[in-house]
Amino acid sequence: MYGKGKLRLGVNIDHVATVRNARGSSYPDPVRAAKLAEDAGADGITAHLREDRRHISDRDIERLTSALDLPLNFEMAATAEMRDIALRHRPHAVCIVPEKREEKTTEGGLDVMREESGLADYIAPLREVGCRISIFAAADRRQIEAVKRIGAEVVELHTGAYCDAHHEGRESDRKRELENLRHISAYAHSIGLEVHAGHGLTYDTVMPVAAFPEVMELNIGHFLIGEAIYLGLVAAIAKMRRLMDEARGPAH
Ligand code: PXP
Repeated sequence: MYGKGKLRLGVNIDHVATVRNARGSSYPDPVRAAKLAEDAGADGITAHLREDRRHISDRDIERLTSALDLPLNFEMAATAEMRDIALRHRPHAVCIVPEKREEKTTEGGLDVMREESGLADYIAPLREVGCRISIFAAADRRQIEAVKRIGAEVVELHTGAYCDAHHEGRESDRKRELENLRHISAYAHSIGLEVHAGHGLTYDTVMPVAAFPEVMELNIGHFLIGEAIYLGLVAAIAKMRRLMDEARGPAH
């Protein structure tokens, strides 16, 4: 099964900032990483400004906005503060994610059904200034339908459950999660959403997801920044790019 159109790679540089912040230094610099990602074949840069600023800072977002040639996918929680920041910078895309202070990472998708009318109102001004709205959601049909109803252009499917099952050797769960992602990708595309996916993807898990023809973009961060320790950032990203292209097949 070959994909339609080139599959884009968005490189998430949050954890370059995590390493920097561990020492309160000015390096490693996530903006330098973003520039290298560009050289390595990334199609976009993703950065998540968390409410507690544990990795990316306000200043990083400012610098990324002015330094990048690639489109910036600005990940944020649906708060008034974050929307003001997004309206000021007008990134190419805004990806709305759920956020809990106590979590290590974004553990699940946004409960769009529960917050439907609030989210529709929330994203309206961002859409007006030209930001593409992406919603990070679980691969659940009802959530995807709610994403469509609120007027978002993109759904980003959470691949964490599939990746966890793979790395923990739970083969039947891995298969089930992958089948569900396949099914929901096709469904989301059929109702007019652009489909992205991400969270926890590695060299071992990326290819089956990259092969779904409806998926247009993968956003990958933590594994790549870790792998850069061994291979260097450019080589780590270039290898991911190669695996994605291989999975996509000759028709891309
Ligand atoms: N997509 C979204 C919406 C995310 O929140 C994250 C994690 O910040 C990612 C993709 C990337 O996940 P990972 O860092 O595990 O590759």
